[in-house]
Amino acid sequence: MLPDWMKQAKVLVSVGSGGVGKTTVSAAMALAAALEGKKVLVMTIDPARRLANALGLQALDDGECEIPKKDWCPKGVETNGQLFAMMLDQKQAFDRIVERFSPTPESAQRIRDNRWYQQMSTALAGAQDFMAMERLYEMSSHRDYDLIVLDTPPTSNAIDFLNAPEKIKGLLQMRSFQWIQDKLAEEGSKAGRLLRWSGGALLKLLGKVTGQEVMQEIWTLLEDLSVLSDSFQEHSEQAMALLQSEHCHFVQISVAKQTPLKEALFLQETLLDAGMTVSGFVLNRVPGFLHHNEEWIPLPESSIEQDERAMAALAKRVSPEPNSESDVLALLQELGSHVQQFRERSELASEAVVFLKEHVEGDPWIHQLPLISDDISNLQGLQRIAQLLMESSLTVSC
Ligand SMILES: Nc1ncnc2c1ncn2[C@@H]1O[C@H](COP(=O)(O)OP(=O)(O)OP(=O)(O)O)[C@@H](O)[C@H]1O
Ligand SMILES: [Mg+2]
Repeated sequence: MLPDWMKQAKVLVSVGSGGVGKTTVSAAMALAAALEGKKVLVMTIDPARRLANALGLQALDDGECEIPKKDWCPKGVETNGQLFAMMLDQKQAFDRIVERFSPTPESAQRIRDNRWYQQMSTALAGAQDFMAMERLYEMSSHRDYDLIVLDTPPTSNAIDFLNAPEKIKGLLQMRSFQWIQDKLAEEGSKAGRLLRWSGGALLKLLGKVTGQEVMQEIWTLLEDLSVLSDSFQEHSEQAMALLQSEHCHFVQISVAKQTPLKEALFLQETLLDAGMTVSGFVLNRVPGFLHHNEEWIPLPESSIEQDERAMAALAKRVSPEPNSESDVLALLQELGSHVQQFRERSELASEAVVFLKEHVEGDPWIHQLPLISDDISNLQGLQRIAQLLMESSLTVSC
């Protein structure tokens, strides 16, 4: 069973540091909601190639695509749900902003054709973050999904994500000349050195040293971009309002280790200060669970190879019949020496969970996802993760 807040949410946003499992968990949350009968869209960013293929996503295509039910719904399960996926294309992120906010197609074209813009748009940090927000807003206001799950970019954290509109606004309002300076300096031009030296105030001088043509190009670009800024402002406010609304819930993904969890707690504070709702923490790849009979049994926290009683209790739980208990016990004892390292990691994970419970703000849903040794970059893998998200025994009780 998914928690109530997740069932009621219209938007879920996965945030967390690089590589923690944001894309995987986003897709699995979407799949779980589809199993519960919802029409769901997952907006992924840079999924691993195999996962992208499994979701039917092609590079350079950022349209929605429906995943056939037979592929994501386990056999024997009845649901009216629908699952759609979409890949946010980083390369086109800024082009889309230009297209969307330019007053005329001609001015959009002029901006796109400008060679300064071409250099800037690929380098611009924040475009990808903003684009994710912008596309989320577009999808939620123009489509009839019951739920949209948004994955966030790998290189950023929640703070970059939230600051993205401001960054872009700054650029559109011509406050950011850094990229021009950097580019000119990179080319070793006199103009770059001069501009750097003058702190950006002597832009006019540029014309004299670079020639009128370059100046004209830059001015045209800056003028065109500044026209975008008003409609951009309005849109970014609407996108932000959606993220702050009661329908939108942030889910923080982290590994169960103290240092990443400290970062996650800092992010929680930032998100809460920005008026967002943080409803869940998913601790991913948690070691220390034994998968048996479709059940995830936490390994005893005490020393497995030495604590006879803990071993006996575990043997009792996993023995198919009473007289096989001793066989299981012998096997477990033999395994004991091998699990030493594993146990230490699982103890650290347990300590990290306690740390999170003690320091987290409010009373969010904290859920553990075990470390899975098989490859999970396919729909069967996502089904497994989705089942684990619904598994109430993995929710940490406070
Ligand atoms: N519970 C799990 N058990 C085992 N492997 C996992 C688990 N969760 C995720 N993985 C694997 O970890 C890798 C990273 O996952 P994923 O791409 O979802 O992370 P991410 O946070 O989106 O990364 P990035 O920040 O680069 O976008 C993938 O290969 C994925 O299959
Ligand atoms: Mg990812």
